[in-house]
Amino acid sequence: MKNLLVTGGAGFIGANFVRYVVAQHPAVHVTVLDKLTYAGNRANLAGLPANRVQLVVGDIADATVVDRLVRRVDAVVNYAAESHNDRSLRDPAPFMQTNILGVYTLLQACRQYDVRFHQISTDEVYGDLPLRQNGVGAKFTPTSRYQPSSPYSATKASADLLVNAWVRSFGLRATISNCSNNYGPYQYVEKFIPRQITNILSGRRPKLYGNGANVRDWIHVTDHSRAVWEILTRGTVGETYLIGANGERSNRDVLALILKLMDQPADAFDWVKDRPGHDVRYAIDASRLRDELGWHPEVTDFETGLRQTIAWYRTHPDWWQGSKATVEADYRQNGQ
Ligand code: NAD
Ligand code: TYD
Repeated sequence: MKNLLVTGGAGFIGANFVRYVVAQHPAVHVTVLDKLTYAGNRANLAGLPANRVQLVVGDIADATVVDRLVRRVDAVVNYAAESHNDRSLRDPAPFMQTNILGVYTLLQACRQYDVRFHQISTDEVYGDLPLRQNGVGAKFTPTSRYQPSSPYSATKASADLLVNAWVRSFGLRATISNCSNNYGPYQYVEKFIPRQITNILSGRRPKLYGNGANVRDWIHVTDHSRAVWEILTRGTVGETYLIGANGERSNRDVLALILKLMDQPADAFDWVKDRPGHDVRYAIDASRLRDELGWHPEVTDFETGLRQTIAWYRTHPDWWQGSKATVEADYRQNGQ
């Protein structure tokens, strides 16, 4: 694995993966292919050495640029996607284009040049789970049924099915990982945790959807990066690996912790309109990843991870202030 193509590497999780590879695997060169949509940002790759990382601005659905880049690498890791549920409810079109046709384009190129492929997917392909009863609740496993709820998760599910078909029909050397909700530095301010942190930092009130009881299974983005590296280099071709760190928390609890860590009164937030079709609970059983590849999360204390994330947004106002007003205007228009 000397030459990697990381698509979507200028977004939140992709850029963290690129930074992880540069820091931990000095013999690897990374080419990033990124369209620099509203969510992509050159600044996410700032400071990385030019001899280790090259950014190519382009679209994963553009067969010409994809062909030119895929033919010269050992592996492709695909982070590129339209990634926000709320946007997919307002306009599904770019989700169809990037998350399905874009992945199809990458698969065809990897097939042609026999290049190893890894698809970054999400636990949301499995739909949702009921809330725990008396502390007990089921978790997603690699054999859970696909039943996505939103246009976003339906397009991610479609991509997974394409990958599996290319493995079976064409012998493509591919793996898939379905990860739970990530948090950490460089996350765009439309998403739950950075939205609330930057609301407080900019004098706005945090916003909670519905009754705040929905549960997400939080993992620090660096733990996700390490898991992807292990799967890419030591995983079994054709397998799906679920990535999660036993981080289940209700949105209300996460917000309460943010308010506490940022010295705000416990009731200093607004209830806003719920998301249509809002998934109730996600929870990951990551035993295949732990048992087969020996991976364990390192950021096991959510409060510590959250405190560091808050500190990052506090010390990087230039990174987020430019997009904050637009994001909040869009939410306001949507009643959220
Ligand atoms: P993000 O929206 O922050 O970044 C997506 C990146 O993809 C951006 O840099 C964007 O410019 C780029 N991109 C979009 N369309 C493109 C195209 N057609 N061609 C090339 N580049 C394009 O998303 P993220 O949160 O970093 O998510 C990355 C991946 O991880 C996605 O596939 C998402 O489904 C998956 N995932 C995210 C989470 C999470 O909690 N955020 C959890 C599990 C899985
Ligand atoms: P989000 O970050 O959009 O991720 P996902 O939809 O992929 O889980 O939202 C995480 C949770 O937070 C989800 O249950 C919706 C909720 N949420 C709020 O309560 N308030 C907000 O302002 C946002 C953006 C999300």
